[in-house]
Amino acid sequence: MISVHPIGKHIGAEIRGVDLTQPVDDATFNQIADAFFKHEVVFFRNQKITPAQQVEFTRRFGILEQHVRKESRLPGHPEILVVSNLLDESGKAIGAQDAGRFWHSDLSYKREPSMLSALYAVEVPVAADGTVLGDTSFTSTTAAYDALPEEKKKRLQGLKNIHSYRYYREKNIQAQKDEQARGVRTVQEHVLTEEQLNSVPDVEVPVVRTHPVTKRKGLFVNEAHTPRITGVDEAESRRLLKEICEHVIRPEFQYQHKWQAGDLLMWDNCAAQHKANFDYDLPMRRLMYRTTVRGSVAV
Ligand SMILES: [Fe+2]
Repeated sequence: MISVHPIGKHIGAEIRGVDLTQPVDDATFNQIADAFFKHEVVFFRNQKITPAQQVEFTRRFGILEQHVRKESRLPGHPEILVVSNLLDESGKAIGAQDAGRFWHSDLSYKREPSMLSALYAVEVPVAADGTVLGDTSFTSTTAAYDALPEEKKKRLQGLKNIHSYRYYREKNIQAQKDEQARGVRTVQEHVLTEEQLNSVPDVEVPVVRTHPVTKRKGLFVNEAHTPRITGVDEAESRRLLKEICEHVIRPEFQYQHKWQAGDLLMWDNCAAQHKANFDYDLPMRRLMYRTTVRGSVAV
């Protein structure tokens, strides 16, 4: 018997009573899916699943993506993106480091942006005093939209913005250079090939997006992937971007997840943004497996 325990005011719930190593019947799956779309972030504790079981379970929500960063896919499971700070014997990162510099939703720069991402915690970083580090913060873009004054909703309706993977990569590389210049600890950024970058051309999408399942409206602008709002001049674009990005991450729309090894957590990329908290370093180990379900064109 499953039970759903909401946490944040607008976002986040724990689902209990499910063992994902066992087959999940349709009725239970539907309850999980309902909770997922209602709470935007849901998680199961103490799961002992294999990569194949993660793939099998999350595939029930739709088609799984294979990330453009081929070098970060889990060998034998191309649908799994390794998110980790671990290095192989040659000193190369075994996965995406997920540096957590910017708020975003996954694959928002694709023509069919991701609907759901699922992250399974294999290892979580624990400080000497026992504190678990590497939290992930989530914020509800639907709650943020609902909280806007009516005149602001009207102003934003119909506006569009660009989401760009190339912009995101350049932004990260610049951030890395700035961190190095300041002598601050930094993550080594992968440099992607032109071919990889060209495989994800920029897209123009609505600023106010309607959720394909719940039909709720949400703000589809994020600081990581959005270089500009189109149809307005440069200064207005900058002003609106700053205003929207600051509004979306107001504390009342957020839930911060403290990880335990064995968590499987899923978030709705059509309704939430997230940001990793990069407050740990080797020898503290963080190893996560991510699967991502393809969504539909944003409207
Ligand atoms: Fe992400």
